[in-house]
Amino acid sequence: MNPAPNLVLVGPMGAGKTSIGKRLAQRLGLAFVDADQRLEEVTGAAVPLIFEHEGEAGFRAREAQLIAELMLGSAQLLATGGGAVLSADNRRHLRERGFVVYLTVGIEQQLERLARDRSRPLLADGDRRSKLEALAEVRAPLYRDIADLVFDSDGLAVATAVDRLVLQL
Ligand code: S3P
Repeated sequence: MNPAPNLVLVGPMGAGKTSIGKRLAQRLGLAFVDADQRLEEVTGAAVPLIFEHEGEAGFRAREAQLIAELMLGSAQLLATGGGAVLSADNRRHLRERGFVVYLTVGIEQQLERLARDRSRPLLADGDRRSKLEALAEVRAPLYRDIADLVFDSDGLAVATAVDRLVLQL
């Protein structure tokens, strides 16, 4: 097992960071933290409401503060939000104190997994395919840049993904 104090999952919406992360943490005996869920607990507000009241910039500031605090700890598996890598500070914190796994996924699978989802403000209106493609263009190089491991979750059941990931850590 890798010596980094934490395990970190990065990747786009619908890559399976939360669902795979939860099971993987159980398997490895790590505390599971989902950044968005933690932000919702701390603020008492759902992510779309934070976006509505504070804008994306407000959300990003909260996200950055949370990541900085969390990365001081150890023995955690952190599932980040898809936009966490936009911040250079976040990228530094994640890579300094984490073994970073980039979960990749194809656009069709992403669209399918997010089809009934109403909790992602960045996909609230407009054409989801083109939005996801535009986000990927900016973010894929950033995910790749901090990744210790790239893992393709496309088409995999959560249990299968976890079984395979465990062997690669
Ligand atoms: C976002 C992804 C979401 C959440 C917020 C913004 C993004 O997390 O942090 O809606 O910018 O891609 P997930 O990647 O867990 O969906």
